[in-house]
Amino acid sequence: MAADLFESLAIEMPPIGPGVEALAPGALLLRGFAASVARELLADLRRVVDRAPFRRMSTPGGLRMSVAMTNCGELGWVSDRRGYRYDPADPDSGLRWPPMPDSFAELARRAAGHAGFAGFAPDACLVNRYAPGARLSLHQDRDERDFGWPIVSVSLGLPAIFQFGGARRSDKARRVPLQHGDVVVWGGPARLKHHGVLALADGEHPLTGRSRVNLTFRKAG
Ligand code: SIN
Ligand code: FE2
Repeated sequence: MAADLFESLAIEMPPIGPGVEALAPGALLLRGFAASVARELLADLRRVVDRAPFRRMSTPGGLRMSVAMTNCGELGWVSDRRGYRYDPADPDSGLRWPPMPDSFAELARRAAGHAGFAGFAPDACLVNRYAPGARLSLHQDRDERDFGWPIVSVSLGLPAIFQFGGARRSDKARRVPLQHGDVVVWGGPARLKHHGVLALADGEHPLTGRSRVNLTFRKAG
């Protein structure tokens, strides 16, 4: 009985510690969690982008997104006139997406574990590149098969204002400044919360130049 009680408390208590902020139940910001591996991530990203260059996809409504995207891993997220989906092939080349670098998968696994989601093994990494002015309007990540796994989102380069809202798109969204190396993990009761990124302010970052790069890890299939 006491052991059961302890176990349920341990699961429900967010592992708040230095550099960890709760954004909502199930959503944690791990400040600087990726900072020490950022150079390695960006070097590995270069190899991904050589095979699957960044491109601006179209929404199902026919608008071009301001954020440039690519993917690595077994599945990649794509958007076009037919809708949103995960595809094992890059529609631009017809080839499979580049494999997910070990540095990516390992960081995602560690961050998820730190946020209480042990055993996270992402099969998809959507890479978003924001130039000054690029933004991502409020949306839910809901094209994945199993919402039991969290989303792990890594910020590199220029800072941005992340919006973290509610179950409905019209719910008020919190504005969270994200810096190079920050990681946000959302799952459980936060898994389908709306989120977005405000228009990127201009600036220059020593590792990414005039851009912000976001790695978003999912278990999609
Ligand atoms: C996303 O929602 O896929 C990206 C979020 C971000 O760029 O921080
Ligand atoms: Fe998203």
